[in-house]
Amino acid sequence: MTLAEAQIQIAELTENANRFNHLYYQESKSEISDFEFDQLLSKLQELEQQFPTLAQPDSPTLRVGGIVTKSFESVAHQYPMLSLSNTYSEGELLEFDERVRKSIGPQFDFVCELKYDGVAISLIYENGLLVRGITRGDGVRGDDVTANVKTIKSIPLRVNDENLPARFEVRGEIFMPFKEFERINKEREDIGEPLLANPRNACSGTLKMQDSGVVARRKLDCYCYYLLGENLPFTSHSEALHAIKNWNFPVSDAWKTCVEAKEVLKFIEHWEKGRFELPVATDGVVVKINNLSQQEDLGFTAKSPRWAIAYKYKAEAAVTQLLSVSYQVGRTGAVTPVANMEPVQLAGTKVKRASIHNADEIARLDLRIGDFVFVEKGGEIIPKITGVDLSKRTPELEPLVFISACPECGSPLMRIEGEVAYYCPNVYGCPPQIKGRIEHFIQRKAMNIDSLGPETIDQLFQKGLVNTPADLYKLNFEQVSQLDRFAEKSARNVIEGIEKSKQVPFKQVLFGMGIRYVGATVAEKLAGHFGSLENISKASFEQLLEAPEIGEKIAQSIVQFFAEPRNTAYVADLKLANVKLEEEGGQEIESEKLNGLSFVISGVFSQFSRDELQDKIKANGGRLVSGVTGKTNFLVAGENMGPSKLEKAEKLGVKIIDEQAFLDMLA
Ligand code: IVH
Repeated sequence: MTLAEAQIQIAELTENANRFNHLYYQESKSEISDFEFDQLLSKLQELEQQFPTLAQPDSPTLRVGGIVTKSFESVAHQYPMLSLSNTYSEGELLEFDERVRKSIGPQFDFVCELKYDGVAISLIYENGLLVRGITRGDGVRGDDVTANVKTIKSIPLRVNDENLPARFEVRGEIFMPFKEFERINKEREDIGEPLLANPRNACSGTLKMQDSGVVARRKLDCYCYYLLGENLPFTSHSEALHAIKNWNFPVSDAWKTCVEAKEVLKFIEHWEKGRFELPVATDGVVVKINNLSQQEDLGFTAKSPRWAIAYKYKAEAAVTQLLSVSYQVGRTGAVTPVANMEPVQLAGTKVKRASIHNADEIARLDLRIGDFVFVEKGGEIIPKITGVDLSKRTPELEPLVFISACPECGSPLMRIEGEVAYYCPNVYGCPPQIKGRIEHFIQRKAMNIDSLGPETIDQLFQKGLVNTPADLYKLNFEQVSQLDRFAEKSARNVIEGIEKSKQVPFKQVLFGMGIRYVGATVAEKLAGHFGSLENISKASFEQLLEAPEIGEKIAQSIVQFFAEPRNTAYVADLKLANVKLEEEGGQEIESEKLNGLSFVISGVFSQFSRDELQDKIKANGGRLVSGVTGKTNFLVAGENMGPSKLEKAEKLGVKIIDEQAFLDMLA
């Protein structure tokens, strides 16, 4: 392909991808399947890699990430990012109205918006193109997080409009939607990673990640609320909001122009409850003077604009007594403290339990049984203890000491260096760990045995019928029908559900096996790369690292898993049970001619598609790796292959062969 041909193709693919993206995200329509869309993007990505000079700064491939920022550059804000003065009372709000009136006279409107609790961002556009995304930082300088910002699908990479200012800045709040926060935490729970504390922290942590590919997978979103620039063609803030909405910026509909203070109070009242329906945490209402020249007249103090004020809703908090702390042991053995409290009414529900994240949190709060504690409901679903009312503390209360033995099996607890959690090391003997592994195994994303639940698993375990997930396949109808409250029909359902699970694809089995850090996505990558459990179990640490997205922590955990004799028996049982331990399709074995050899393929081939060539390598016992290293045996080079791969292969002395030479190896 010539440069000119590539240019045309890239332009075409870009236009299509942008159109589909726009349809999907702005109009909630889709004209092609996710799969087709992914194909389109990977084609574009491949061309961009082959012809790096043609890669566009607004390419839709930037949405999926791939750029790694080693350290974020600190840059100065053109307009400082100020804060807002806060008020908690209607009285103070009326004083604000009064101050404004004194300063600019009685003729003015307000715009009321919600105050979003995320991470402030400044988005800079030049000639319609997003050139930089900068965090607030200290207000004067912030971090350049452009690559990460570009993965946020609602933020336009390019704005098309006839009257677009040559340079402008849009400010808004990046946030992690509640649903996404819950999804990620569920996934982290599944693989034994510590949970993210709340959506706000999760969002700011995500935005500072080095690998934009990871950022892309955590679906952050944004609400924009401020347009800045020189000589903008608008006279009011409401006009500017309409304009940026028209330019496809995400602007929440939760805003209103109000002509008098009474209306502002109504807005505040309306959203006090309504805000809980939004996808993002909010903690108040921002009241702004609408007219831009009036804003200018009012000006700024050193810290905040005089033309705006934030009314903060009172945090939903309550005081209650801490009665006891219980300790829960999870599937991975991690021990989590939970506070049991005198029941108290909070944000519409009765609350009697709160999470305390770990031992450090107990020490930080200096919690004592009998203390009166403040509980709040933030963005999280489970309320948390935010502090102790020391004025109510009586002298006899003693500091709470974290347990030193497992509450379930009595084993002395351990702490792993660098981790805050305490663990019960009795992996194969501690009941909640054993049952937890089985519960993990049967879940929908794994073996999908929905006729089983925690109670049945508990019974099966108590009766000594199951100890590992693989034991489920040894159960018979008689054993199940003897369980408490089991009619014939439900027993049959259980047996049928277990039988049916033998059909779930290998990647789900692998996820269900419960190897630490191997979540659903990692399992899919491993299954695709290695093709079978056999291959994964035999792979060395280095070979595991060659698989896409597998880092040292995961590789280490996999090696450890297969080194444990009990897991060898577990795997043998799964094999006997006939669950799928290999990828389906394209995996027929043709020969063992390429056994032990690793291949990188690059470019376009005449006799095969890339997929066919990959299948051919695997079918003959070879291994595919994504990047050239000193350990790679062959680089199969096609037409138009990327120059960097070629250069690297030459430098490292990796054998470079063409399609025909590859076929000759198999002959
Ligand atoms: S306007 C000069 N509008 O609150 C201030 N800010 O405490 C211009 N925030 O840094 C900001 N929602 O991160 C504005 N609707 C909204 C907002 C909002 C949240 C944040 C923003 C700002 C902080 C100030």
